Amino acid sequence: MGPLSAPPCTQHIKWKGLLLTASLLNFWNSPTTAQVTIEARPPKVSEGKDVLLLVHNLPQNLTGYIWYKGQIRDLYHYITSYVVDGQIIIYGPAYSGRETVYSNASLLIQNVTREDAGSYTLHIIKRGDGTRGITGNFTFTLYPKLPKPITINNLNPRENKDVLAFTCEPKSENYTYIWWLNGQSLPVSPGVKRHIENRILILPSVTRNETGPYECEVRDRYGGIRSDPVTLNVLYGPDLPRIHPSYTNYRSGENLYLSCFADSNPPAQYSWTINGKFQQSGQNLFIPQITTKHSGLYVCSVRNSATGEESSTSLTVKVSGPCHGDLTESHS
Ligand SMILES: *[C@@H]1O[C@H](CO)[C@@H](O)[C@H](O)[C@H]1NC(C)=O
Ligand SMILES: *[C@@H]1O[C@H](CO)[C@@H](O)[C@H](O)[C@H]1NC(C)=O
Ligand SMILES: *[C@@H]1O[C@H](CO)[C@@H](O)[C@H](O)[C@H]1NC(C)=O
Ligand SMILES: *[C@@H]1O[C@H](CO)[C@@H](O)[C@H](O)[C@H]1NC(C)=O
Ligand SMILES: *[C@@H]1O[C@H](CO)[C@@H](O)[C@H](O)[C@H]1NC(C)=O
Ligand SMILES: *[C@@H]1O[C@H](CO)[C@@H](O)[C@H](O)[C@H]1NC(C)=O
Repeated sequence: MGPLSAPPCTQHIKWKGLLLTASLLNFWNSPTTAQVTIEARPPKVSEGKDVLLLVHNLPQNLTGYIWYKGQIRDLYHYITSYVVDGQIIIYGPAYSGRETVYSNASLLIQNVTREDAGSYTLHIIKRGDGTRGITGNFTFTLYPKLPKPITINNLNPRENKDVLAFTCEPKSENYTYIWWLNGQSLPVSPGVKRHIENRILILPSVTRNETGPYECEVRDRYGGIRSDPVTLNVLYGPDLPRIHPSYTNYRSGENLYLSCFADSNPPAQYSWTINGKFQQSGQNLFIPQITTKHSGLYVCSVRNSATGEESSTSLTVKVSGPCHGDLTESHS
């Protein structure tokens, strides 16, 4: 499998081959000379995923390389090796069936398990006189299974009304659970109830400012990993509407332009009445060339069909005659 250009012969060589390689290893074992580095991709691995141990700066003219589990280079810890001549792959006692060594020495470990966590040693055997064996050393940390996204009983809660229950998966007595909102760990506030080792979080109410993203982190003794974030769509409002401009005195012949706004999710539906009579729906009211007959009580009503809430605000408009007569009246 994988992109290894089909080795002409991949063999399961048993103890004879292993013993031979092991003695080679001892023979070449000596201080490191080359800057061989090993990088894990991805650096954080969760159970069941794959990790590639990438080998950088592999020297030229190699006889082969051997991967060991842990730091002890003996037969018992021998996973697999690659013999350059003939492109032969050899498997050892520590081979689990999930490791693949590539011709460039990189090692792919599929479906990682807890037992895979720890250090790995790569032994590189150079060809020719005066060359040396090189030992690399690498440790990767296994994280718990990636949590499923948080489940929430209601993704569209109404502000200060609906009780929310967040549940973090998977469930295990070996995990601890930490909750995050906007990248900060959720403080233990009196209103927040936590159940079953914190795996279930109850929020008795939520405000528009607490929309998310919510994440849960699952931790075990190896480390922790966070779920995908979930954002709430908190339904709220409408708040008390405001009419703009708030200015009340007009002259005949002027244009009246009023705009109403109330914060609301989803956006509010707007309607206008003048002296108790329905005028129009919509946020903006425009009456060109008003006359004194347009004086009166202007009410903007707002409604949010999702929350079922309503609200309204009024403005008393006074229209005075065109040129002669009334001075602008003061308004209380
Ligand atoms: C080694 O080979 C594997 C598989 O073809 C590849 O994914 C990886 O990038 C290679 N490593 C380097 C250091 O080029
Ligand atoms: C590789 O080995 C060959 C012959 O064994 C030698 O001629 C060559 O210089 C070596 N190359 C390197 C990069 O060491
Ligand atoms: C990895 O796990 C999947 C699903 O469980 C399975 O189909 C696959 O064969 C496994 N691969 C190896 C190399 O074990
Ligand atoms: C490998 O790493 C461990 C811990 O990081 C260290 O104690 C050990 O000496 C290293 N071994 C080699 C061969 O570099
Ligand atoms: C919890 O940890 C113990 C000891 O490591 C292990 O035997 C058990 O299977 C774990 N339980 C789960 C649900 O993973
Ligand atoms: C939301 O946050 C804003 C600014 O941080 C604050 O003024 C407002 O009172 C908050 N609203 C609620 C409902 O908590």
